[in-house]
Amino acid sequence: MAKFIIKGGAELAGEISVKGAKNAVLPIMCATILAKGEFILNNVPNLSDVSTMVKLLEYLGLKVEKLNNDTYKIINNGLTSVEAPYELVSEMRASFTITGPLIGKEKRAKVAMPGGCALGARAVDQHLRAFEKMGVQVNTEHGFVNLDGNNLTGAEVDVEVTKLKIPSVGATENVMMAAVLASGQTIINNAAKEPEIVDLGNFLIKMGAKIEGLGSDKIIIIGVKELQACEYEIMPDRIEAGTYIIMSLITGGKVKIKNVNLSDLPGFIAKLEEMGVKFTQEENLLSVRGNINELKNTKIETAVHPGFPTDLQPQMMVLLSLIAGASEVNETIFSNRFMLVPELDRMGAEIVVDERVANIKGEIKFSGAKVTATDIRAGVSLVLAALIADNTTEINNIHFIERGYEDLVSRLKLLGANIERVD
Ligand code: UD1
Repeated sequence: MAKFIIKGGAELAGEISVKGAKNAVLPIMCATILAKGEFILNNVPNLSDVSTMVKLLEYLGLKVEKLNNDTYKIINNGLTSVEAPYELVSEMRASFTITGPLIGKEKRAKVAMPGGCALGARAVDQHLRAFEKMGVQVNTEHGFVNLDGNNLTGAEVDVEVTKLKIPSVGATENVMMAAVLASGQTIINNAAKEPEIVDLGNFLIKMGAKIEGLGSDKIIIIGVKELQACEYEIMPDRIEAGTYIIMSLITGGKVKIKNVNLSDLPGFIAKLEEMGVKFTQEENLLSVRGNINELKNTKIETAVHPGFPTDLQPQMMVLLSLIAGASEVNETIFSNRFMLVPELDRMGAEIVVDERVANIKGEIKFSGAKVTATDIRAGVSLVLAALIADNTTEINNIHFIERGYEDLVSRLKLLGANIERVD
C-alpha cells in the first residue's frame, strides 16, 4: 500500500496552481451521454475519480481519449449499455450522477445503489423521489435501482433532504440532466446553489439546453428535443483553492495560489477575514496574509453554498488547532466527517467531539506520527498538519487523497516540502 512520508518544518514558498474542479468535471462527464458527437473538455484534473468516470463512460459505450495532460476528447456514437455496475458506483458515489442522463437520453437505467461510504450513509432517496415525480418508475432489487423513464416528463420537484433541511447537490444535478431532454417544463424547488451546479448548467446550455435560475434555489428547465456535443472548460476547484489557502497560512504565507475564484468561496473567505486574514490578488495570483499568533479563534458551522463548505471543514480544524483560544466546529452536512479527529489527535491536536460539534483546543504543536486518511479531505488535512509537524509523519490510505488532489507530491516538492510517496 502506498503512503506519504512527510518530514515537517520545511519552509514552503512559490506558486501552486488550482486545477479543474473535481465536483464539476464528474457530472459534466456524465452529461456527455446526452448527445451524440465529439466533446472536448479542457482543464480536466488528473485524478483517480476522473479515471473512474472514464471507466464508467467506456463501460456504457463511449470512447474517451486524453489529448494532453488536461484535455479529454469524449466520443459518443451511441450507448451500448445503460448499466452502472457496483464496482464503479461503490468506488465513487458520484457515479450515481449517471442516472439522470441515462434516463434523459435512453429512458432507462440500471444503477448500483451507492451504499455506505467514508462520510456516512449517503442516501439517494431525494434523487429517486424527484425522478418518480417526473413519471419515472423506480424499482430497487438485488442492490440495483432499475429506472423506467418511458413516461418521463417535466414536473415540479423538490430536492430538499428532509431530515437535514438542505438541498441535495447530487439530486439537483441528476434532475437537471434528466430534465433537459424531457418533454415540458421542470421546476426544481429548493435547488442546490453550489458553483459546480452552475458550471454543469452552463455546460448543458452550451449543448443547447434551456435552463434558467442557475445559482438560485429555483431552477427552471424547458426540455428540448436534441442536444449537441460541444467544447467546454471546467471551472477551477474551489475546495482545492481553499486547501492551499490554509496551507499558505499555516506555513507563513509565502505560497501564492494561481487560478482562484474567491467569489466561489464566500462563506470560507468571510470567516477567514473575520479571523484576521487578508487577501490580495494580482494577475491571477492570490497572496494570503495572516500571522497565526494573531488570528482570532472562532466558531464555524458548515452550510450549503454560500455558507462555509463542509469540504473545507477538516482542513480548517488544522488551522484552528494552531490559533490561541478554543474554537468550535459544527458539522451539519455529513455525519461521519469527524473520523479525522482521532488521527489529528495522534499528531498532537486536542479535539473533543460531541455528536456534531468538535471543540478544538488552540495553540497546539503538531508532532509527526503514523496516521491514516479516512476520506479525501481528511487525508489532505493530515498532509497540512504533517507539513508543519516536528519530525516525520507517515500517512496511509493515500488513495483517498489522490481522488481529489492532482500530483500533490511533486507540486508540494516544488514549493520546498519534504514529502515522498513510497509503495
Ligand atoms: C456533493 C459533493 C461533496 C460535497 C457535498 C455537499 C460531488 C461529487 N460531491 O456530494 O464533495 O461534500 O455535495 O456540498 O459533487 N442526502 C440524503 N438523501 C439524498 C441525498 C443526500 O439523505 O437523496 C444527504 C447525504 O447523506 C448528505 C447530505 O444529504 O448527508 C448532502 O448530500 P448531497 O448534497 O447530495 O451531497 P453529494 O451530492 O453526495
